[in-house]
Amino acid sequence: MVKVAVLGAAGGIGQPLSLLVKLNEDVTALNMYDIVRCPGVAADISHINTNSTVTAFQGNDSLKDCLTGMDIVVIPAGVPRKPGMTRDDLFGVNAGIVRDLIQGVADNCPKALVCIISNPVNSTVPIAAEVLKKNGVYDPKRLFGVSTLDIVRASRFVRDVRPSFNAHTPIPVIGGHSGNTIVPILSSVQSEVKLSEDEIKTVTHRIQFGGDEVVQAKNGEGSATLSMAYAGYRFVASLISAIKGKPTTECTFIDLSVDAQGAQFYRQLGATDLEFFSVSANIGPNGVESIQPISGISPFEKELIQAAVSPIAQNIASGVNFIRK
Ligand code: NAI
Repeated sequence: MVKVAVLGAAGGIGQPLSLLVKLNEDVTALNMYDIVRCPGVAADISHINTNSTVTAFQGNDSLKDCLTGMDIVVIPAGVPRKPGMTRDDLFGVNAGIVRDLIQGVADNCPKALVCIISNPVNSTVPIAAEVLKKNGVYDPKRLFGVSTLDIVRASRFVRDVRPSFNAHTPIPVIGGHSGNTIVPILSSVQSEVKLSEDEIKTVTHRIQFGGDEVVQAKNGEGSATLSMAYAGYRFVASLISAIKGKPTTECTFIDLSVDAQGAQFYRQLGATDLEFFSVSANIGPNGVESIQPISGISPFEKELIQAAVSPIAQNIASGVNFIRK
């Protein structure tokens, strides 16, 4: 049975994400950690009559107890965007938060599968990797940047223009997790949906900048929380299945060194020297088992990948330098 910790559990994402994890009967322990509001939120969720025991942990002194023995650690801690901000604008605050929480993972549960939701994911995942490396416990197979919301949006936004499309059909999204680094592979469903060139461009742009729709609609109150909780839970549920012996495939932002041969496919598309990239990954009980190619990528999508490489490289460098300097 599986033990899950949510760090940032009292936030806009953390609360509904914890609720969804609480509904999963394969979870035996749900540890909720935050620096504020955690006892109340955890007491509330703890009354739901499913298998898991819910425990609240508040403040840095309790991080050790929260993380010890955990199989999966999910991190939605940090500040969200306001109108006019990019994900990179969050770096100043969130980089330090992720660094400190990952130090806790390194000290207390270095074998856990770690899911980073805090933005900018293109930088916070390299930050996590550097902290784990510094502590001599880095296993790249166990570290994931959660980009599932891009995949969720891709399926839904295609459905918006083709009402006959099954919104549960997954559409791979590769590259990174910000603006034009997000590369949806709509050609994977093109034989079914037959989008025009203009429709492909419009839907692609909407998937890349769909987060802005929510930020603007919330008008200063934050960014996507409910759809993100759904997406984050979908990813966590896949990991829980994998731990229980049912391997899964997910697009996620990972260290390409986990499978040099599988990564070749993405390197040839343009990710030549990148250490991290969002790819289609086969995941088993111990994390990523292999990286798999995606067939039928169009010339337009290849151009998008080329455009994504330089910003991702800069984001990775910012993360790495934040820890090394
Ligand atoms: P929020 O402000 O509602 O919640 C964040 C929570 O983190 C708060 O409860 C806060 O107390 C907590 N927190 C702050 N510092 C902490 C620390 N040192 N340790 C533990 N908890 C701490 O923000 P929201 O909307 O839940 O967003 C959280 C993060 O998720 C943001 O960085 C946002 O950009 C990111 N995000 C990522 C997405 C993705 O697709 N990967 C999509 C949407 C948001």
